[in-house]
Amino acid sequence: MYNSKIIGLGHYVPENVVTNDDLSKVMDTNDAWIQERTGIKERRHVVKGDGDTTTTMGVKAAKIAIERAGIDKDDIDFIVFATLSPDYYFPGPGVLVQRDLGIKTVGALDVRNQCSGFVYAISIADQYIKTGMYKNVLVIGSELHSHGLDMTTRGRGVSVIFGDGAGAAVLTREEDTTKGILSTHLHSEGQHAEELSLIAPGMGNRWVTDIMEDNDPNDESYFPHMNGQFVFKNAVVRFSEVIVEGLEKNKLNAADIDLLVPHQANLRISQFIQKKFQLSDDQVFNNIMKYGNTTAASIPIALTEAWEEGKVKSGDLVVLAAFGSGFTWGSVMIKW
Ligand code: UT7
Repeated sequence: MYNSKIIGLGHYVPENVVTNDDLSKVMDTNDAWIQERTGIKERRHVVKGDGDTTTTMGVKAAKIAIERAGIDKDDIDFIVFATLSPDYYFPGPGVLVQRDLGIKTVGALDVRNQCSGFVYAISIADQYIKTGMYKNVLVIGSELHSHGLDMTTRGRGVSVIFGDGAGAAVLTREEDTTKGILSTHLHSEGQHAEELSLIAPGMGNRWVTDIMEDNDPNDESYFPHMNGQFVFKNAVVRFSEVIVEGLEKNKLNAADIDLLVPHQANLRISQFIQKKFQLSDDQVFNNIMKYGNTTAASIPIALTEAWEEGKVKSGDLVVLAAFGSGFTWGSVMIKW
């Protein structure tokens, strides 16, 4: 058995900055409400028609991660792509990355676990590397939310939160099993699937032909829906649980955490977790202020920025934790 470790990180966000004041021009919202409830000041939105998609953003982030890893694209043995906003209903973006990066015909897997997508994707990559099946795995989290949001007052509870962007990581084999990814912890509770969901189009309830036939301008089923307070209450509990689970598994305490990189769902959630575990500002990395919630992309974007700022050092205990739609949640314990 081996361990896996992250050897390259990259991120890409579209240039177009959308401030809270920009949003208040198209819907009944305001900077004070958004900052007070979420901590978000601005986010990035792809400008329609400029060519960026979930896949192209993922590819841009991946190129940086591969270069920083110091490997060739042809050394990649497997691709894992996490998103809730794929370019196509099918096929998923994993194969589009294989094509666009010109990687040989390695396997490409798509992960559909929303805000927990990157944590799930890392766990998959880790398992393949641990068993020796693959040596180098490319993991991408990328989202293009802006084209699918309800940008009217009706959708303000959701649309002010989400932003576009991508992050990527290259994982490789680590022979020293006291280093790299120590453990991963994954959970789900489908009982609450509809509390944070996008119902249509889907084979189950609202297929495209139904929507086209109904042609109902009041049909909200093809916009994301979130029961915000219910999600918030579950998030703080599950974030805490899954961090404790990771610490206990490795016989560690919260004081041992050098850097917690939580999924950037809401600054208030991160602050709640920080307080609960009595962590200092230096021990928790947040960038939701700049990018909003980029779901599967949020952890790899944040981890990349933390690494670029020198906040991730050799020997550090780095903890990734996520909670989101599904509900799904998980954590990753890393000895960097
Ligand atoms: O990433 C996946 C996991 N996601 C999360 O963890 C998100 C969890 N939930 C949250 O972060 C928060 O619930 C939100 C930020 C989404 C909402 O904050 P809240 O404090 O729960 O607000 P609320 O939904 O209870 O709405 C309070 C009021 C309502 O008005 P009334 O009924 O009190 O008159 C809303 O209509 O705020 C109103 N409101 C807004 N006002 C201005 C909702 N959205 C907006 C808005 N601007 N954008």
